[in-house]
Amino acid sequence: MEQLLQQIESLKAEIAASVASSQEELEQFRIKYLGTKGLVKQIMGEMKNVPVESKKEFGQILNAFKQVAEDKLAQLQEALGETESVDTKQDYTLPGDTIAVGTRHPLNLVRNQMVSIFKRLGFAVAEGPEIEDDWHNFGAMNLPADHPARDMQDTFYVQEATDASAAWLLRTHTSSVQARVMETQKPPIRVICPGRVYRNETISARAHCFFHQVEGLYIDENVSFADLKQTLYFFVQEMFGKEVKVRFRPSYFPFTEPSAEMDISCQICAGKGCNICKHTGWVEILGSGMVHPKVLENFGIDPEKYTGFAFGMGVERIAQLKYQVNDLRLYSQNDLRFLQQFKSV
Ligand code: DAH
Repeated sequence: MEQLLQQIESLKAEIAASVASSQEELEQFRIKYLGTKGLVKQIMGEMKNVPVESKKEFGQILNAFKQVAEDKLAQLQEALGETESVDTKQDYTLPGDTIAVGTRHPLNLVRNQMVSIFKRLGFAVAEGPEIEDDWHNFGAMNLPADHPARDMQDTFYVQEATDASAAWLLRTHTSSVQARVMETQKPPIRVICPGRVYRNETISARAHCFFHQVEGLYIDENVSFADLKQTLYFFVQEMFGKEVKVRFRPSYFPFTEPSAEMDISCQICAGKGCNICKHTGWVEILGSGMVHPKVLENFGIDPEKYTGFAFGMGVERIAQLKYQVNDLRLYSQNDLRFLQQFKSV
């Protein structure tokens, strides 16, 4: 009996010191102590040799011993479960977490679509600087100093000068890129120039101090007003669908002669009359015309040999008609509730 109690004590110490670093070792522990032929069972088998008066006390000691082995098994199991959780609890066949992707800005969507339509007609993309000198923005485009039409565009000056032609400014239109292109390329020229422009306007739903334009320029022999009309008609049909109607109204721009503005049937009310078209059924979308001979001469292009057409339109206006966005400020406020609505073209 004494000997048996000593054996139990030493086994308890052995159990307490046991470790299992794998499922196999854990199983070995279980078999050794708690298996059908394990030590707990073996010692329980000694019960029959214990004198009757000690059976109760010995039974309690045995139960406690069994409990020690069981507790240790549970503890080793838990410890192993934690370190091995990666292998045993992960299901690698599950799909991965979805990554939230951003959306394109509506103005970029519309600009890209505009660019791709003109690319199909053979137009190349040209870009120019947003900080311009007076010559490229005004002078070269037939707007010399003191020209009254300069008042049409409230200019932000970066650096004013007593001689206006030496001033630096934020370009007021992408027509300045026309000048950059004619300066470096010889006809035939066929480019579109998307970009940001700036004007000193009070910010409201209808006006902003910066907005976006796409400019077009086509110079070659025998380019006519009919080419201009057909090109722009193709563009709006691709942009808004075959149902769209167009009309040209005579207008004035210093860099074109003759000049015209183009209206399309209102895409919001289908021409029935609404706030956007001011109940006329028509919305102005661009300015255009035949490149003024003086502009060609400014770049050494012979106006007797070459003719060209040009146009400029606002990306915000096209986006408004496409997506019915009626407050220009939304485009620059970075409100995700607004931006996330534009998933694709
Ligand atoms: N630059 C003009 C504006 O910002 C738009 C424009 C009109 C561009 C006629 C042109 C054009 O190229 O031919 O209002």
